[in-house]
Amino acid sequence: MNNFVYDIPTKVYFGENQLGNLGVELSKYGKRVLLTYGGGSIKKIGLYDKIVEEIKKAGLELYELSGIAPNPRVSSVNAGADICKRENIDVLLAVGGGSVLDCTKYIGAAAYYEGDAWDISLQKTPVERCLPIITVLTLAATGSEMDAGGVISNPETIDKIGLLFPVMQPKVSFLDPTATYTVNKFHTACGAADIISHVLEVYFNMDQDLYMLDTVMEGLIKTVIKYTPVALEEPDNYEARANLMWTSSWAINGFINGGKRQAWSCHPMEHELSAFYDITHGLGLAILTPRWMEYTLNEKTVSKFYQFGVNVFEIDGSLPQIEVAKKSIGLLKKFFFETLGLQSTLTEIGIDETNFKSMAKKAETLGSTKYAFQPLAAEDIENIFRMCL
Ligand code: NZQ
Ligand code: ZN
Repeated sequence: MNNFVYDIPTKVYFGENQLGNLGVELSKYGKRVLLTYGGGSIKKIGLYDKIVEEIKKAGLELYELSGIAPNPRVSSVNAGADICKRENIDVLLAVGGGSVLDCTKYIGAAAYYEGDAWDISLQKTPVERCLPIITVLTLAATGSEMDAGGVISNPETIDKIGLLFPVMQPKVSFLDPTATYTVNKFHTACGAADIISHVLEVYFNMDQDLYMLDTVMEGLIKTVIKYTPVALEEPDNYEARANLMWTSSWAINGFINGGKRQAWSCHPMEHELSAFYDITHGLGLAILTPRWMEYTLNEKTVSKFYQFGVNVFEIDGSLPQIEVAKKSIGLLKKFFFETLGLQSTLTEIGIDETNFKSMAKKAETLGSTKYAFQPLAAEDIENIFRMCL
């Protein structure tokens, strides 16, 4: 077991009717608030009005940036940073899913930078400061509400780059499961696939395991498997939405890492699919993950798949390891493509092999797949893309 530092400095207000605390929390950081949001879902669900009311009640000044798109663009980051500089913004309030939260993190950093915000993604400038960020989450998926990461797209260069900067960690996050009641079936399913992937990226690791954390990870995945079908069937089932929401945060807030080296596999591959084809992140992961599992299953890795199959899917442990491993991949496919109803191939979503070579090269260069559970070079990644057709 490796040494590690545990530090998750985001204060969480979990549950219904917690927005009464929003004004107090914002006021700790100043008077001038930039509210950021996406394409308008927060207005439809009545959240926008509640938030504006709390801001007014607290006597704060409100500025707004709307229209942050899924797979958020660097143009929104630059637009937000301009407002921060022009209006001397003190604190950022991100209301939405991972895209809004990620974009807001980069706005907070770009507010202290004079050049194009894309320089941050290219790591041309150090990120040592960021405006304080408070989030109100409306979609359980990315864990952005409780981590320091963010992923930004640049359609001009066909890039989507994810990075982690500790100063971007939200100071406070409001997690109200009722705010996710209106998330449609597709995004609920994609969120579930994303949460599972965040756990699997850590779970399948060659570093020595910490039994306690492996058990937690298996529990997180089982929670998603248990509650997503409930949320799909009954979108306003509080227990289901609450379990999914809290699992999304704990899947990626750093707790489960426990000192394991972080070299993810499916995420770098998926970010290329989203960069080239602007697809929903969780859908790309659902298509890629079982194929990546099939590709990486071998004598060296089989025992971890066996553990996964027995502990998560409760497959009979007396069966040969390889049989359990294959069954577990089959059951994960069944969950993604039958239970969640997600499309199962790239072909189905209109993606062919045209860009596989360049996407694979970029995934290898931008990610750390070479050091992953089963090291992946560009040609391996290309093979996995082909398995997804
Ligand atoms: O734009 P609006 O109108 O808000 O609509 C959104 C959007 O169309 C809608 N939505 C959100 N909450 C809703 C709702 N619709 C109805 N009711 C609600 N309560 O859902 C759509 C998708 O939203 P988005 O924010 O794009 O989804 P998600 O939370 O999955 O975020 C995806 C982004 O996060 C990145 C992904 O790459 C992608 O760019 N990731 C961020 C990570 C992080 N910060 O650590 C890690 C992840 O692995 C991921 O890469
Ligand atoms: Zn993800």
